[in-house]
Amino acid sequence: MLAETVHTQMGHAALGGVVPEIAARAHLTLLPGIVEKTLTESGLKLGDMGAFAACTGPGLIGGLIVGSSYAKGLAIAMDRPFIAVNHIEAHALTARLPGLVQHDIKFPYLLLLVSGGHCQCVAVRGVGQYEKLGGTIDDAAGEAFDKVAKLLGLGWPGGPALEKLALEGDDRAISLPRPLMGREGCDFSFSGLKTAVSRQIDPYGMAALPRALAADIAASFQSCVCDVMADRVRHALEMMPEAQSLVVAGGVAANAAIRAALEACADEAGIAFVAPPLRLCTDNAVMVGWAAIETIRAHEAANVPLRDGIQTAP
Ligand code: KG4
Ligand code: ZN
Repeated sequence: MLAETVHTQMGHAALGGVVPEIAARAHLTLLPGIVEKTLTESGLKLGDMGAFAACTGPGLIGGLIVGSSYAKGLAIAMDRPFIAVNHIEAHALTARLPGLVQHDIKFPYLLLLVSGGHCQCVAVRGVGQYEKLGGTIDDAAGEAFDKVAKLLGLGWPGGPALEKLALEGDDRAISLPRPLMGREGCDFSFSGLKTAVSRQIDPYGMAALPRALAADIAASFQSCVCDVMADRVRHALEMMPEAQSLVVAGGVAANAAIRAALEACADEAGIAFVAPPLRLCTDNAVMVGWAAIETIRAHEAANVPLRDGIQTAP
């Protein structure tokens, strides 16, 4: 990793979430400057590049179109291949970036992806070899944090604010449901939990909610999510006994209580727990570049030439 830049569009905070149209336009105006700055820091020139890559989805389509059109433009101008990277694949492979964690992360491993848009357990068996073992049947984990934080009158994004407030509360004060806990498989569900929280708040109204009660709700909600996640991951590890490590990615992996619960699961199973540094757990370009390198190497190893256009694993 020679240079990296993340331009966070936190300007959306005042609007209570990402506004897709504003985000897409920001990509358009910011991208050339970001690429130029990163190139300068890397000490390389465009002509030194062997390939160009961009994320093509899943995600907010406007930003994806801007980013991939820009990278395709560079690839055509420099006569190099363009590599289309899947968003989930990029998260799945980040942990293997050399120098990130103390040891090499070997396939197969279990990936728990928990962000604002995704919540799923993925068996990662090799580059291009992914199997979704289970996922949310309603909200993503980060979405649940954001919605509960909103009910509690905290800002956006809600996860970090809720985690901070939970430190002041008693996690056994409020009894909340633990959706799908103990059930077969490793699907998740968070919408009922959010409704249960709103029932606790309704009698007061958000403005009149005593801070101590808000803290108890935050702590109880967070502990619920920890219990549910640990249970689902235990099931996923049972479905995948060959897993060598448990890898977590996505913004929710920033949560210390959730990390601790997941680490305990990995310890129980006798496998390594791997959480890439936070800046690489949330959306970033390094993971997209690394997934492209893994794709190129997999093609080389299989002696399959890179096709001109969309690339998938050989
Ligand atoms: O991966 P990410 O940065 O963006 C995408 O959703 O793709 O994840 C953002 C999500 C938000 O829902 C945010 O509330 C949540 O991650 N999050 C947290 C914490 N920090 C961020 N959730 C719980 N505890 C945190 N400390
Ligand atoms: Zn992501």
